Amino acid sequence: MPGVFQLSPDELLREASRAHALGVPAVLIFGIPARKDTQASGAYARDGIVQETVRLLKKELPELVVITDVCLCEYMSHGHCGIVVRDDRAGRVLNDPSLKLLARTAASHVEAGADIVAPSDMMDGRVRAIRQALDQGGFTDAPIMSYAAKFASAFYGPFREAAESAPKLGDRRSYQMNPANVLEALREVALDIQEGADIVMVKPALAYLDVLHRVKMEFGYPTAAYAVSAEYSMIKAASANGWIDESAVTLESLLAMRRAGADILITYSAREVAQWLKEGRA
Ligand code: PBG
Ligand code: ZN
Repeated sequence: MPGVFQLSPDELLREASRAHALGVPAVLIFGIPARKDTQASGAYARDGIVQETVRLLKKELPELVVITDVCLCEYMSHGHCGIVVRDDRAGRVLNDPSLKLLARTAASHVEAGADIVAPSDMMDGRVRAIRQALDQGGFTDAPIMSYAAKFASAFYGPFREAAESAPKLGDRRSYQMNPANVLEALREVALDIQEGADIVMVKPALAYLDVLHRVKMEFGYPTAAYAVSAEYSMIKAASANGWIDESAVTLESLLAMRRAGADILITYSAREVAQWLKEGRA
Protein backbone atom coordinates (compact mmCIF):
# COMPACT_ATOMS: atom_id res chain seq x y z
CA MET A 1 0.00 0.00 0.00
CA PRO A 2 1.71 3.19 -1.16
CA GLY A 3 3.15 5.25 1.69
CA VAL A 4 1.64 3.01 4.38
CA PHE A 5 3.93 0.92 6.55
CA GLN A 6 3.88 -1.36 9.56
CA LEU A 7 5.41 0.67 12.39
CA SER A 8 6.97 -0.10 15.75
CA PRO A 9 5.47 1.79 18.71
CA ASP A 10 8.27 4.38 18.73
CA GLU A 11 7.96 4.94 14.98
CA LEU A 12 4.21 5.34 15.36
CA LEU A 13 4.72 7.89 18.10
CA ARG A 14 6.88 9.96 15.71
CA GLU A 15 4.29 9.71 12.90
CA ALA A 16 1.43 10.54 15.24
CA SER A 17 3.12 13.56 16.73
CA ARG A 18 3.89 14.92 13.24
CA ALA A 19 0.26 14.41 12.23
CA HIS A 20 -1.02 15.96 15.43
CA ALA A 21 1.25 18.99 14.96
CA LEU A 22 -0.31 19.51 11.52
CA GLY A 23 -3.80 19.51 13.01
CA VAL A 24 -4.93 15.88 12.68
CA PRO A 25 -7.11 15.43 15.78
CA ALA A 26 -7.20 11.63 16.06
CA VAL A 27 -5.57 8.38 14.99
CA LEU A 28 -7.08 4.94 14.39
CA ILE A 29 -4.70 2.16 15.36
CA PHE A 30 -4.43 -1.40 14.01
CA GLY A 31 -2.15 -4.02 15.51
CA ILE A 32 -0.14 -6.86 14.03
CA PRO A 33 1.05 -9.35 16.65
CA ALA A 34 4.32 -11.29 16.59
CA ARG A 35 2.36 -14.57 16.61
CA LYS A 36 -1.12 -15.44 15.39
CA ASP A 37 -3.27 -18.31 16.69
CA THR A 38 -6.87 -19.63 16.54
CA GLN A 39 -8.01 -17.69 19.63
CA ALA A 40 -6.54 -14.30 18.63
CA SER A 41 -4.77 -14.18 21.98
CA GLY A 42 -2.62 -11.24 20.87
CA ALA A 43 -5.76 -9.12 20.52
CA TYR A 44 -6.54 -8.94 24.24
CA ALA A 45 -3.10 -9.53 25.78
CA ARG A 46 -2.26 -6.96 28.45
CA ASP A 47 1.13 -6.44 26.79
CA GLY A 48 -0.26 -6.73 23.25
CA ILE A 49 1.05 -4.42 20.55
CA VAL A 50 -2.00 -2.15 20.56
CA GLN A 51 -2.20 -1.99 24.35
CA GLU A 52 1.51 -1.06 24.65
CA THR A 53 1.23 1.50 21.86
CA VAL A 54 -1.86 3.14 23.32
CA ARG A 55 -0.10 3.54 26.67
CA LEU A 56 2.86 5.15 24.93
CA LEU A 57 0.71 7.51 22.81
CA LYS A 58 -1.46 8.64 25.71
CA LYS A 59 1.62 9.26 27.83
CA GLU A 60 3.52 11.27 25.22
CA LEU A 61 0.61 12.92 23.33
CA PRO A 62 -2.27 13.14 25.80
CA GLU A 63 -4.17 15.59 23.56
CA LEU A 64 -4.28 13.26 20.57
CA VAL A 65 -7.49 11.23 20.43
CA VAL A 66 -6.58 7.56 20.19
CA ILE A 67 -9.12 5.25 18.57
CA THR A 68 -8.42 1.53 18.39
CA ASP A 69 -9.74 -0.84 15.77
CA VAL A 70 -11.28 -3.79 17.59
CA CYS A 71 -11.14 -6.95 15.52
CA LEU A 72 -9.63 -10.42 15.61
CA CYS A 73 -8.54 -10.95 11.99
CA GLU A 74 -5.00 -9.61 12.37
CA TYR A 75 -4.49 -11.91 15.37
CA MET A 76 -6.06 -15.08 13.94
CA SER A 77 -3.91 -17.62 12.09
CA HIS A 78 -6.80 -18.08 9.61
CA GLY A 79 -7.41 -14.36 9.12
CA HIS A 80 -11.14 -14.30 9.95
CA CYS A 81 -12.70 -11.64 12.16
CA GLY A 82 -14.12 -14.23 14.58
CA ILE A 83 -13.58 -17.75 15.89
CA VAL A 84 -13.76 -20.32 13.08
CA VAL A 85 -15.38 -23.78 13.29
CA ARG A 86 -12.52 -26.16 13.94
CA ASP A 87 -11.05 -27.74 10.80
CA ASP A 88 -13.84 -26.23 8.72
CA ARG A 89 -12.79 -26.05 5.06
CA ALA A 90 -15.13 -23.14 4.34
CA GLY A 91 -13.79 -21.08 7.27
CA ARG A 92 -17.23 -20.65 8.84
CA VAL A 93 -17.29 -18.16 11.70
CA LEU A 94 -18.99 -18.74 15.08
CA ASN A 95 -20.77 -15.51 15.90
CA ASP A 96 -21.63 -15.78 19.59
CA PRO A 97 -18.41 -17.33 20.92
CA SER A 98 -16.52 -14.53 19.16
CA LEU A 99 -18.33 -11.84 21.15
CA LYS A 100 -16.50 -12.66 24.37
CA LEU A 101 -13.10 -12.20 22.74
CA LEU A 102 -14.15 -8.95 21.07
CA ALA A 103 -15.47 -7.56 24.35
CA ARG A 104 -12.27 -8.56 26.12
CA THR A 105 -10.21 -6.91 23.40
CA ALA A 106 -12.16 -3.64 23.60
CA ALA A 107 -11.92 -3.54 27.41
CA SER A 108 -8.17 -4.13 27.29
CA HIS A 109 -7.78 -1.21 24.87
CA VAL A 110 -9.72 1.18 27.08
CA GLU A 111 -7.88 -0.06 30.14
CA ALA A 112 -4.65 0.88 28.33
CA GLY A 113 -6.04 4.37 27.76
CA ALA A 114 -7.84 4.30 24.39
CA ASP A 115 -10.30 7.19 24.03
CA ILE A 116 -12.67 5.40 21.62
CA VAL A 117 -12.99 1.77 20.54
CA ALA A 118 -14.03 0.92 17.00
CA PRO A 119 -15.31 -2.64 16.45
CA SER A 120 -14.82 -3.62 12.79
CA ASP A 121 -15.66 -7.34 12.97
CA MET A 122 -19.38 -7.16 12.05
CA MET A 123 -20.46 -10.02 14.35
CA ASP A 124 -24.09 -9.66 15.43
CA GLY A 125 -24.50 -8.31 18.95
CA ARG A 126 -20.93 -7.15 19.40
CA VAL A 127 -21.76 -3.53 20.25
CA ARG A 128 -23.94 -4.71 23.15
CA ALA A 129 -21.29 -7.18 24.33
CA ILE A 130 -18.59 -4.50 24.21
CA ARG A 131 -20.81 -1.93 25.94
CA GLN A 132 -21.49 -4.39 28.76
CA ALA A 133 -17.83 -5.26 29.18
CA LEU A 134 -16.82 -1.59 29.27
CA ASP A 135 -19.53 -0.72 31.79
CA GLN A 136 -18.60 -3.66 34.00
CA GLY A 137 -14.97 -2.55 33.87
CA GLY A 138 -16.02 0.87 35.12
CA PHE A 139 -15.51 2.54 31.72
CA THR A 140 -19.05 3.81 31.40
CA ASP A 141 -17.90 6.94 29.56
CA ALA A 142 -15.78 5.22 26.91
CA PRO A 143 -17.45 5.72 23.51
CA ILE A 144 -17.93 3.09 20.81
CA MET A 145 -17.57 3.98 17.15
CA SER A 146 -19.05 0.99 15.37
CA TYR A 147 -18.29 -0.04 11.83
CA ALA A 148 -22.07 -0.24 11.45
CA ALA A 149 -22.52 -0.53 7.70
CA LYS A 150 -19.39 -2.35 6.59
CA PHE A 151 -19.74 -3.96 3.20
CA ALA A 152 -18.03 -7.08 1.87
CA SER A 153 -15.93 -4.98 -0.48
CA ALA A 154 -13.14 -5.46 -2.99
CA PHE A 155 -11.82 -2.08 -1.89
CA TYR A 156 -10.07 -3.60 1.16
CA GLY A 157 -7.36 -5.39 -0.86
CA PRO A 158 -4.37 -3.13 -0.12
CA PHE A 159 -5.23 -3.04 3.61
CA ARG A 160 -5.37 -6.83 3.89
CA GLU A 161 -1.95 -7.10 2.31
CA ALA A 162 -0.50 -4.36 4.55
CA ALA A 163 -2.12 -5.77 7.70
CA GLU A 164 -1.57 -9.45 6.82
CA SER A 165 -5.24 -10.07 7.51
CA ALA A 166 -6.69 -11.71 4.38
CA PRO A 167 -8.82 -14.77 5.25
CA LYS A 168 -6.99 -18.00 4.33
CA LEU A 169 -10.22 -19.94 3.72
CA GLY A 170 -13.55 -18.66 2.44
CA ASP A 171 -14.47 -14.98 2.51
CA ARG A 172 -16.12 -12.44 4.81
CA ARG A 173 -19.55 -12.43 3.18
CA SER A 174 -21.24 -14.21 6.10
CA TYR A 175 -20.56 -11.25 8.40
CA GLN A 176 -19.88 -8.23 6.18
CA MET A 177 -22.77 -6.77 4.23
CA ASN A 178 -24.05 -7.34 0.70
CA PRO A 179 -23.10 -4.29 -1.42
CA ALA A 180 -26.46 -4.52 -3.20
CA ASN A 181 -28.56 -4.27 -0.05
CA VAL A 182 -29.09 -0.80 1.40
CA LEU A 183 -32.04 -1.77 3.62
CA GLU A 184 -29.91 -4.32 5.42
CA ALA A 185 -27.29 -1.62 5.97
CA LEU A 186 -29.89 0.66 7.55
CA ARG A 187 -31.09 -2.21 9.79
CA GLU A 188 -27.52 -2.84 10.92
CA VAL A 189 -27.07 0.83 11.79
CA ALA A 190 -30.36 0.86 13.75
CA LEU A 191 -29.25 -2.23 15.70
CA ASP A 192 -25.85 -0.78 16.54
CA ILE A 193 -27.46 2.43 17.82
CA GLN A 194 -29.89 0.37 19.89
CA GLU A 195 -27.02 -1.65 21.32
CA GLY A 196 -25.19 1.49 22.42
CA ALA A 197 -22.99 2.76 19.60
CA ASP A 198 -22.03 6.43 19.99
CA ILE A 199 -20.78 6.96 16.44
CA VAL A 200 -21.81 4.89 13.41
CA MET A 201 -19.56 4.36 10.43
CA VAL A 202 -20.14 3.63 6.77
CA LYS A 203 -17.36 1.81 4.92
CA PRO A 204 -16.15 2.04 2.17
CA ALA A 205 -17.00 5.68 1.58
CA LEU A 206 -16.85 6.87 -2.02
CA ALA A 207 -18.70 3.95 -3.61
CA TYR A 208 -21.32 4.10 -0.80
CA LEU A 209 -22.15 7.80 -0.57
CA ASP A 210 -25.85 7.00 -0.99
CA VAL A 211 -25.70 4.78 2.09
CA LEU A 212 -23.82 7.44 4.00
CA HIS A 213 -26.42 10.05 3.10
CA ARG A 214 -29.34 7.80 4.04
CA VAL A 215 -27.74 6.88 7.36
CA LYS A 216 -27.22 10.53 8.26
CA MET A 217 -30.73 11.54 7.12
CA GLU A 218 -32.50 8.62 8.78
CA PHE A 219 -30.74 8.59 12.15
CA GLY A 220 -29.18 12.06 12.53
CA TYR A 221 -26.45 10.35 14.49
CA PRO A 222 -22.74 11.16 14.65
CA THR A 223 -21.61 9.50 11.44
CA ALA A 224 -18.15 8.56 10.21
CA ALA A 225 -17.02 7.71 6.68
CA TYR A 226 -13.99 5.49 6.14
CA ALA A 227 -12.15 6.14 2.88
CA VAL A 228 -10.61 2.68 2.60
CA SER A 229 -7.31 1.40 1.31
CA ALA A 230 -8.21 0.98 -2.36
CA GLU A 231 -9.87 4.40 -2.55
CA TYR A 232 -6.60 5.87 -1.32
CA SER A 233 -4.36 3.60 -3.40
CA MET A 234 -6.21 4.29 -6.64
CA ILE A 235 -5.66 8.02 -6.25
CA LYS A 236 -1.99 7.42 -5.45
CA ALA A 237 -1.52 5.18 -8.49
CA ALA A 238 -3.29 7.48 -10.92
CA SER A 239 -1.42 10.53 -9.70
CA ALA A 240 1.92 8.66 -9.84
CA ASN A 241 1.11 8.11 -13.53
CA GLY A 242 0.45 11.79 -14.00
CA TRP A 243 -3.23 11.20 -14.81
CA ILE A 244 -4.81 13.16 -11.99
CA ASP A 245 -3.95 15.94 -9.56
CA GLU A 246 -3.52 14.10 -6.26
CA SER A 247 -4.39 16.85 -3.81
CA ALA A 248 -7.36 18.13 -5.85
CA VAL A 249 -8.88 14.65 -6.31
CA THR A 250 -8.31 13.67 -2.68
CA LEU A 251 -9.84 16.88 -1.35
CA GLU A 252 -12.82 16.64 -3.73
CA SER A 253 -13.47 13.03 -2.65
CA LEU A 254 -13.36 13.93 1.04
CA LEU A 255 -15.59 16.93 0.39
CA ALA A 256 -18.12 14.60 -1.24
CA MET A 257 -18.18 12.49 1.93
CA ARG A 258 -18.83 15.58 4.03
CA ARG A 259 -21.56 16.69 1.63
CA ALA A 260 -23.18 13.26 1.87
CA GLY A 261 -23.38 13.62 5.65
CA ALA A 262 -20.12 12.49 7.26
CA ASP A 263 -19.20 14.25 10.50
CA ILE A 264 -15.93 12.34 10.79
CA LEU A 265 -13.54 11.37 7.99
CA ILE A 266 -11.16 8.46 8.39
CA THR A 267 -8.49 8.62 5.72
CA TYR A 268 -4.97 7.41 5.02
CA SER A 269 -4.36 10.87 3.53
CA ALA A 270 -4.98 12.69 6.81
CA ARG A 271 -1.46 13.98 7.25
CA GLU A 272 -1.11 15.08 3.63
CA VAL A 273 -4.56 16.65 3.70
CA ALA A 274 -3.70 18.61 6.84
CA GLN A 275 -0.57 19.84 5.08
CA TRP A 276 -2.53 20.82 1.93
CA LEU A 277 -5.12 22.66 3.98
CA LYS A 278 -2.33 24.56 5.70
CA GLU A 279 -0.98 25.53 2.30
CA GLY A 280 -4.41 26.88 1.40
CA ARG A 281 -5.27 24.37 -1.32
CA ALA A 282 -8.88 24.18 -0.27
C1 PBG B 1 -10.56 -5.74 9.53
C2 PBG B 1 -10.55 -4.46 8.80
C3 PBG B 1 -10.49 -4.29 7.42
C4 PBG B 1 -10.44 -2.94 7.20
C5 PBG B 1 -10.46 -2.30 8.43
N1 PBG B 1 -10.56 -3.27 9.42
C6 PBG B 1 -10.39 -5.25 6.33
C7 PBG B 1 -11.38 -6.31 6.13
O1 PBG B 1 -12.51 -6.26 6.60
O2 PBG B 1 -10.99 -7.26 5.48
C8 PBG B 1 -10.34 -2.33 5.84
C9 PBG B 1 -9.59 -1.07 5.78
C10 PBG B 1 -9.20 -0.63 4.43
O3 PBG B 1 -9.33 -1.31 3.40
O4 PBG B 1 -8.67 0.49 4.40
N2 PBG B 1 -11.72 -6.07 10.17
ZN1 ZN C 1 -11.45 -8.16 11.03
